[in-house]
Amino acid sequence: MAGTYPKDPRKGKRRSSQWYGKADRDGYAHRSWMKNRGLPADQFDGRPIIGICNTWSEFNPCNAHFRDIAERVKRGVYESGGVPMEFPVFSNSESQLRPTAMLYRNLASMDVEESIRGLPMDGVVLLVGCDKTTPALMMGAASCDLPTIVVSGGPMLNGHYRGEQIGSGTHVWKFSEMVKAGEMSLEDFMSAEQDNARSAGHCMTMGTASTMASLAESIGIALHANAAIPAVDSRRYVLAQMAGRRIVDMVREDITMSSLLKRENFENAIMVNGAIGGSTNAVIHMLAIAGRMGIDITLDDWDRLGRNIPCLVNLMPSGAYLMEDFFYAGGLPAVIRELDGYIHKDAKTANGRTIWENCSDARTWNREVIFPVDRPFKPNGGIAVLRGNLAPDGAIIKPSAASPELMTHRGRAVVFESVEDYRDRIEDPELDIDETCIMVLKYCGPKGYPGMAEVGNMGLPPKILKKGVTDMVRISDARMSGTAYGTVVLHTAPEAAAGGPLAFVRNGDMIEIDVPGRRLHLDVPDEELERRRAAWNGFESPYDRGYTRIYVEHVTQADTGADLDFLVGKSGTPLLRESH
Ligand code: FES
Repeated sequence: MAGTYPKDPRKGKRRSSQWYGKADRDGYAHRSWMKNRGLPADQFDGRPIIGICNTWSEFNPCNAHFRDIAERVKRGVYESGGVPMEFPVFSNSESQLRPTAMLYRNLASMDVEESIRGLPMDGVVLLVGCDKTTPALMMGAASCDLPTIVVSGGPMLNGHYRGEQIGSGTHVWKFSEMVKAGEMSLEDFMSAEQDNARSAGHCMTMGTASTMASLAESIGIALHANAAIPAVDSRRYVLAQMAGRRIVDMVREDITMSSLLKRENFENAIMVNGAIGGSTNAVIHMLAIAGRMGIDITLDDWDRLGRNIPCLVNLMPSGAYLMEDFFYAGGLPAVIRELDGYIHKDAKTANGRTIWENCSDARTWNREVIFPVDRPFKPNGGIAVLRGNLAPDGAIIKPSAASPELMTHRGRAVVFESVEDYRDRIEDPELDIDETCIMVLKYCGPKGYPGMAEVGNMGLPPKILKKGVTDMVRISDARMSGTAYGTVVLHTAPEAAAGGPLAFVRNGDMIEIDVPGRRLHLDVPDEELERRRAAWNGFESPYDRGYTRIYVEHVTQADTGADLDFLVGKSGTPLLRESH
């Protein structure tokens, strides 16, 4: 095989050569143990060693097909003259892991970072799918800064139930409310489970997983068309193989993550998030990734860049269609093509071309799914950032998933001191609440829950649902699933557990929300708020050991990405000491 690849001036000088290129005891040890797999000696002759970072787990159904994907990446790596080495990392399973996969996003990122830094690889392919695996792996890889490509696992096939398309998550929330309202039997509810999950892949709504796959493509770290190809479509495997080929070239060309992703790449991703009506969770994840890379992206950038971006994509939870439809309609390249006049066209992407070179010829095949920019699906798809005495450091809302008539609202607070308090009382017919009230949920932020669970989209009281009312204003320091919808103010910072004003809201207080004016105001005099603060007993986490203790002590607030304070930034891949 030697001599069949382009001349490679870095051969023998790679990072991996520090392990495999040494003619001494340590080189012997590194090579010899690897040769127990039957690897020919020329695999260690200085050709690029490519790590394939795999989040496969049977407890993570969204990523359960990743062994197949990894095999396709390996084919591509071999074809380009590299040597693939697959390695496992913590697999955050959004649907299975308690108390919330978000608690472990930073743990997974540490696993990724330390694995990349400690192992002899020259470049890395990140296999991601379920909500938190995409940001976790990008955060860890960003702190190491090797040549890096993301390969998403792709969405499940569309759900179908009794003639209706049903979406991951979106219909769990919807059907659950229908059961509470007496519009659906429990038997029918449970019979829809299988119909909602028909194939391998991640949630097929424009939830967090699809959003993050789209942002990985639009930021330029994934190959063109990564976002929407269904998990079981043969083209997903072609893309994986192409990524394997390309990462080897990226190592040869020394295209590191930081040399590829600049501020304009992040700005493109934020604008694309608006155009696809993407998940609110993307805000927190992209802030964390930018923080690892030392790129100064803030909540204000999200508000500014998303403010004039129309929502072009008619996908659940904000619309009617699903990711399979999106792919057939043209997928993300067709959306980016519509953003002519908005995006930074010269931003580079992983395939070596600019985003505009990739997308300028993209066509839309179904205008019911992807709308033109001059006749958008919804006028505003961006994330609005609210501030005021209730959220000094900001809170967010997704207007495209909210009710227009509630965008400006004043209502009486009905306060739940914890998610358990909410669950205990929400179905009580005596609960003093009507549809004009504002539901407030406390102590569900990064420190408080801990891990900032997706409980912000509190279901409405049954007595209100039975009136036919389907939305009310809800405010919390929690997140909500990207598959959820409603007039839901999230990520309030500082959170209640950190002594944010949310902790001091009481039943009966009046709250004003003004989304056009970007304002969230608790109508209580400053002196009274100070009295309440002085009487506050503080927050003590019951978690006193292990990772959760580290997390609670070090997690930052939502407005800066909820990373661990000592993980922010990067330290590259300095050569570590030998192990023996
Ligand atoms: Fe994995 Fe939704 S549960 S992507």
